[in-house]
Amino acid sequence: MSSVRVDAVGGRGAQLLRWIDARFPWSKLIKEHASEYYAGKNFNVWYVFGVLAAVVLVIQLLTGIFLTMNYKPSALEAFASVEYIMRDVEWGWLIRYMHSTGASAFFIVVYLHMFRAMLYGSYKNPRELLWLIGMCIYLALMAEAFLGYLLPWGQMSYWGAQVIVSLFGALPGIGETLVEWIRGDYFISDITLNRFFALHVIAVPLALVMLVVLHIMALHETGSNNPDGIEIKEQKDENGIPIDGVAFHPYYTTKDLVAIIIFLILFAGVVFFAPEMGGYFLEHANFEPANALKTPEHIAPIWYFTPFYAILRAVPNKLGGVLLMGSAVALLFFLPWLDRCKVKSIRYRGWTYKLALGVFAVSFVVLGILGTLPAVSLYTNLARIFTALYFAFFLLMPFYTSRERTKPVPDRLVYRG
Ligand code: HEM
Repeated sequence: MSSVRVDAVGGRGAQLLRWIDARFPWSKLIKEHASEYYAGKNFNVWYVFGVLAAVVLVIQLLTGIFLTMNYKPSALEAFASVEYIMRDVEWGWLIRYMHSTGASAFFIVVYLHMFRAMLYGSYKNPRELLWLIGMCIYLALMAEAFLGYLLPWGQMSYWGAQVIVSLFGALPGIGETLVEWIRGDYFISDITLNRFFALHVIAVPLALVMLVVLHIMALHETGSNNPDGIEIKEQKDENGIPIDGVAFHPYYTTKDLVAIIIFLILFAGVVFFAPEMGGYFLEHANFEPANALKTPEHIAPIWYFTPFYAILRAVPNKLGGVLLMGSAVALLFFLPWLDRCKVKSIRYRGWTYKLALGVFAVSFVVLGILGTLPAVSLYTNLARIFTALYFAFFLLMPFYTSRERTKPVPDRLVYRG
């Protein structure tokens, strides 16, 4: 009896699927991008951060929609409306803490995702465009975080925006006009808040979502790289399936699900027990409403911008600092062409790249820490040393990567279970 019912449901399901497929390429899409998308069988933990970034994007979009329902984008009401969300709106505190924690979580997973590409040479031929789209996502993400930070209209929102927007004033000739154009006023005001709100809730998220779609399309065109940096498409069986590949669905969907569950547990841990994260995820000064007449004692951006902030402060000249900070981000775009080594994965690369990447990672973290500290001379001098190391990683790359003594790359993937 029950098997008859199952067949009937299956039959109706199959019928519906046929109906849809005749009008929309649903099964074709699922095949192309999941059940017949083959990825190297040796993905390790570094390969979960792309999916986690997508999960955080969804969290931010959903919680953002609900925050917008009760937030007021006006200088007179913004701060109080956030307090209202935290105290009076049902579950408002949860939605807001998920959104503020999500912002930091986004940068954590994206930084790890980018570092993975540097470990396994995923930006190299033929994935240069995938990397460039990724870099555009990174820029959009920085813009989104910066715009969103003004919205609670706290002291750090106000003064942080004041410092960052005024940086554009250093540009010769157009600087001051540009600053006024961005603010829409002679100071950070209600007008600025309104436009930042519009950009934060619609313009940049739309761009982000479109860029992520392009990112996945580019990835599925070239196929994923893997921890061995071997192109699995080059060795196919008689059915045209890569012999070292496994279908994304069900193999990696299952594996990614484990990562998503672990991530959500950690995420919930922060949301419920440490949403401020000692002032790193929500800065203490932002619990006071914005006051144009009172500068906070110590202005520091939120942690994910501090490496670049430390580079900015390392230069005594404002224009020089702005240009150096801009170049620190811009250089990442050029990685596919700065890296001249034929071998992709760090597993088979020479000691020079391993050392250089290690120095880069340490410099980025140390600059991040220095950017949170007051600009006393010891820290500024240290920031200068680590800024030099950060830039050396990129600028010397064509030299040390073209002379690298690499190890032989195996023909087939190495599976380390
Ligand atoms: C919203 C942000 C992002 C999302 C949702 C996202 C999503 C993904 C996904 C799902 C994958 C495949 C799974 C994986 O390899 O982890 C991937 C691969 C990749 N992503 Fe992203 N990504 C984002 C940001 C970035 C950024 C900022 C960069 C670099 C600047 C980047 C560079 C790459 C590269 C090079 C690959 C291929 C890696 C390989 O095959 O080894 N992505 N991305």
